[in-house]
Amino acid sequence: MNKKLKVVMTVKLPDGVETRFRELFNTTLWLNKDPMPREKMIEAAQTAEVLVSSINDRIDADFIDACGEQLKMIANFGVGYDHIDVAKAVEKGIIVTNTPGVLTEDTAEMTMGLIIAVARRFVEGAETVQRGEFSAWSPTFMMGRRIYGKRLGIVGMGRIGQALARRARAFGMQVHYHNRKPVSQRISDELEATYWDDLDQMLSRMDVVSINAPGGPHTFHLLDAERLAKLQPHAILVNTARGQIVDEEALAHLLRGNKIAGVGLDVYERLPGINPELFGLPNAVLLPHMASSTIEARTDMGDRVILNIKTLQDGHRPPDRVIPAML
Ligand code: 8YV
Repeated sequence: MNKKLKVVMTVKLPDGVETRFRELFNTTLWLNKDPMPREKMIEAAQTAEVLVSSINDRIDADFIDACGEQLKMIANFGVGYDHIDVAKAVEKGIIVTNTPGVLTEDTAEMTMGLIIAVARRFVEGAETVQRGEFSAWSPTFMMGRRIYGKRLGIVGMGRIGQALARRARAFGMQVHYHNRKPVSQRISDELEATYWDDLDQMLSRMDVVSINAPGGPHTFHLLDAERLAKLQPHAILVNTARGQIVDEEALAHLLRGNKIAGVGLDVYERLPGINPELFGLPNAVLLPHMASSTIEARTDMGDRVILNIKTLQDGHRPPDRVIPAML
């Protein structure tokens, strides 16, 4: 049997997952719900052979420079890796892995829920009842907007975008999308999806827009003030991908000026420091980055991280390596 790798976690995972980590590897757990402070992370990166990271960790060039020569792999708990300087890590011979596939359905599910929550005013309605303000039905009370028959524009048609498209079709929406390139004919036929090469044109014609693209330099402020201004006044924007894709200040400004009908956000441009202009608006449904937060997804994500580390421990190449060609 190969020697157990020294694994340091920077993130608290579900108990069952942690137990398996301890069985399989020489694991140091991070039992705090708060993210590991940077100094502690640097300390860990000087002794660990594998670091299990999350979106809370800024694994930039300086951090990679500070990692010891013994560090073989950064196994990210999550599919997105925009917080990791992958090119720099690979240059230093450190493998980076992620957890693709296992949180697709959960994220799409939450995105669909968020679209409906905004369009049908779930949060406003629920709060009214909680405050004891609902006493009698009225025909004009809490009128939202139907999503059936409406156009959904998906920005980023990867795994999650496609899973959302399947759900949206079941709700009677027409699927449109913008992507770096069109999806395969088979998928396009299945989803009866319309491809827009020009994002501006798509934005100006949709009823609902959902961001499902990866974060990183290529998509930073893809929806800047100018692009956001193309949205129709009755449009709803939903973002469960990465906050940095949308100019949050411009978005708050549009919303405050009633230039769009509503937003559903699960991600924010800066944490801590959500733009306070987004607070207190009845048409803004704001969630705390919970799209993949199901016990099933978090367990499967943990299993994926374990598989990647175990494969390395057994002397093979981990299956979910992020390679610079993917960037
Ligand atoms: C994760 C996510 O929970 O996987 C991702 O990219 O955005 C989240 O759903 C988070 O990244 C954990 O690191």
